[in-house]
Amino acid sequence: MRIISPSIIAGDFSKLDREIKEIEDLGITRLHLDVMDGNFVPNLTFGPLVVEGIRKLTSMHLECHLMINNTKQFINEYISAGGDTIIVHKENNSDIDDNINEINRQGVKSGIAFNPDTPINSILPFVKKIDLVLIMSVYPGFCGQSFIKSTLQSMSEFVNQKKINPKLHVAVDGGVNINTIKKVFDTGVDISIVGSGLLGASDRKTRYKELLDA
Ligand code: DX5
Ligand code: ZN
Repeated sequence: MRIISPSIIAGDFSKLDREIKEIEDLGITRLHLDVMDGNFVPNLTFGPLVVEGIRKLTSMHLECHLMINNTKQFINEYISAGGDTIIVHKENNSDIDDNINEINRQGVKSGIAFNPDTPINSILPFVKKIDLVLIMSVYPGFCGQSFIKSTLQSMSEFVNQKKINPKLHVAVDGGVNINTIKKVFDTGVDISIVGSGLLGASDRKTRYKELLDA
């Protein structure tokens, strides 16, 4: 599967409605929403109000990547705002099992994201109960960082885990662009999050095709 999910923070928020329309017109069906709280990561983006606004603009599948502390407190807000997949981080999160149970109970898709230095053994026990694993190929916080090549190993490992959960979507986030996407696709991942590598291109239509065909 070669699915590209654009990270909207790499777009232009002064014309969010037109950005979303342009993404849809490319034939894209998923949108990646990076929620950052300025604590869990050293950057601040947006909260549920903006997710709710985006929900009204599109029927694309919205994946909310929560890079926040106190995840437990806010999960339901992102579900109510219209998130279709709620992705929580493993780091600094002692409630992760409860988080996943709650997301699953609410009938939306659940995902776990983990940083490049987090041992994959700490994620494996969750494989059976999640819909998506998000392998961070940069340290989260900002668009436009360089892809960390050693994370390719984790991608292959989780593609293997589909033997245990055939419905698992393996996704990759950070530094995926025209120079790195082939290596990512070669591991067999399902979903590549692309921020600056797509939305930063002057001709997004051509770039989208180049990415898919890489
Ligand atoms: C990083 C975010 C990513 C980021 C991707 O913290 O989670 O989704 O926006 O942007 P690029 O593709 O530019 O690395
Ligand atoms: Zn992200």
